[in-house]
Amino acid sequence: MADPVSFREYYLRRIGVVTPLPEAWLGHAKPVGVADEPPTASAPAAGRGENEPLSPSIDLDELARQAANCTACELARTRNKVVFGVGNPHADILFIGEAPGRDEDVKGEPFVGRAGRLLDRMLAALGLDRGSVYIMNVIKCRPPNNRDPSPEEVRACARWFEPQWEAISPKVVCLLGRVAAQRVLETTAPLASLRGRWHEKRGAPVLVTYHPAYLLRSPAQKARAWEDLRALRRRWLELRED
Ligand code: URA
Repeated sequence: MADPVSFREYYLRRIGVVTPLPEAWLGHAKPVGVADEPPTASAPAAGRGENEPLSPSIDLDELARQAANCTACELARTRNKVVFGVGNPHADILFIGEAPGRDEDVKGEPFVGRAGRLLDRMLAALGLDRGSVYIMNVIKCRPPNNRDPSPEEVRACARWFEPQWEAISPKVVCLLGRVAAQRVLETTAPLASLRGRWHEKRGAPVLVTYHPAYLLRSPAQKARAWEDLRALRRRWLELRED
């Protein structure tokens, strides 16, 4: 039987990884806070101080309460729970996914299924967890059969999405997958052409990376996603110092 170390090396070579991936991404979860590239002694927490106000005009809790009763589109008929968002309302780093899936619809929290567990491992590899960043989706209710959100649904959900972003006022934003990237960057360009460079939205630097569900299907792309997240972390640390 092959020993685990040489198997891992074989696996990394097979998926074309030059920069070694964090162990956790290969499926062996690490405790939160144990990063391959540790958030050195100087790495600050990924959020502003508790006493620092959110955008003065917007109360995130109140927004979530209102969204819980939303009937602005057809998805209100089929959803179980509105999935508003999770994390630190003072977060410096905002992650945006596509839409709730079945698990999220049941629990009322974004990214709690298989893709969510990979996202948790990706965060842990950066020395973060879902309490130190903020995670939300482009739309708040599950589309039946996990189809792409329609343009009408995306438009209807802007009433929550836009003020939610404004309330959090993140320093850096990471868009997970094509749907989030195209919606936020207002483009129909393919993900491949949007990833690997910085964009800007609402005054914040924005990075596009692969959706964790895609990474589950295409693990060879994990190395690229890891490069993206390291770039995100570097940019965030630079901005903290400004
Ligand atoms: N995929 C997403 O884009 N968002 C979730 O919350 C879960 C899966």
